Amino acid sequence: MTDTILMHPILIHEADGVLELRFNRPDKKNAILGAMYDTLAAALDGAAANPGIRAVLIGAEGDVFTAGNDIRDFLAMAGGLQDAPPARFIRAIAGFNKPLVAAVQGPAVGVGTTLLLHCDLIYASPAATFSAPFVNLGLVPEAGSSLLLPARMGHARAATLLLLGDSIDAEAALQAGLLSGIVPADALQAHARDKARQLAKKPAAALAASRALMRGDPAALQARMRQEEDAFTQALASPEARAAFAAFLARPPRAS
Ligand code: COA
Repeated sequence: MTDTILMHPILIHEADGVLELRFNRPDKKNAILGAMYDTLAAALDGAAANPGIRAVLIGAEGDVFTAGNDIRDFLAMAGGLQDAPPARFIRAIAGFNKPLVAAVQGPAVGVGTTLLLHCDLIYASPAATFSAPFVNLGLVPEAGSSLLLPARMGHARAATLLLLGDSIDAEAALQAGLLSGIVPADALQAHARDKARQLAKKPAAALAASRALMRGDPAALQARMRQEEDAFTQALASPEARAAFAAFLARPPRAS
């Protein structure tokens, strides 16, 4: 059965036991608005409770996977992160109980990279890049990335992303253990979808138990995410963050 449930700016599509969620705001490089986070969080919560959905595939339209949080939305988030849509989405994906597959076809910035740390299979095209420039914006890492990224690639390599704000390409991300594989752009979506369908056909209980074992005790992750939310909330209100957001929004139009 194939059923398109909702269009724009998050595409949601269900087929063969796989729920596909696709960023679809390509004119803004898939920068994520509060309503988009809410849609994603609700879709994940629904998928967790639906025995017909056995795996979730996250992808994107356009040339950028996602430019991360919409920077104008950061300015509006004066009350902090705790009760805001990004935190609801982060908690939903970090606590999700079924396999997550991602297809990254271009730059994955900020939460675009940190959400991948909660995915199980991650495929990227050669054009994909990965960056988490929180410090450049006067912010701090989120989504458990201050714990998960050093664990994945070692502190020194993680520091190039989380402290220097460097971007790494697909090959470096593969070497660092961030990716399951690099796939030519024209085959990426089909490849990732095929892997998600393979997972959807596995014995569900054994798959869930194996995944839970691989992820380990969630308590440390949850504790770190709470610390990150507090630090992020403080940082959001800081003059340096406000200045960085204003500078991004005041950029002159880019030559195309
Ligand atoms: N929030 C809000 N708008 C964003 C955005 C974001 N995070 N990222 C891109 N956009 C908007 C731009 O303002 C621009 O809008 P306009 O056409 O109305 O001027 C449009 O998307 C295209 O962006 P542009 O920067 O021209 O595209 P690009 O292809 O040259 O670069 C990126 C793509 C992703 C490298 C670049 O947009 C970028 O660095 N974005 C900011 C990423 C970021 O810092 N995110 C927060 C992480 S914590």
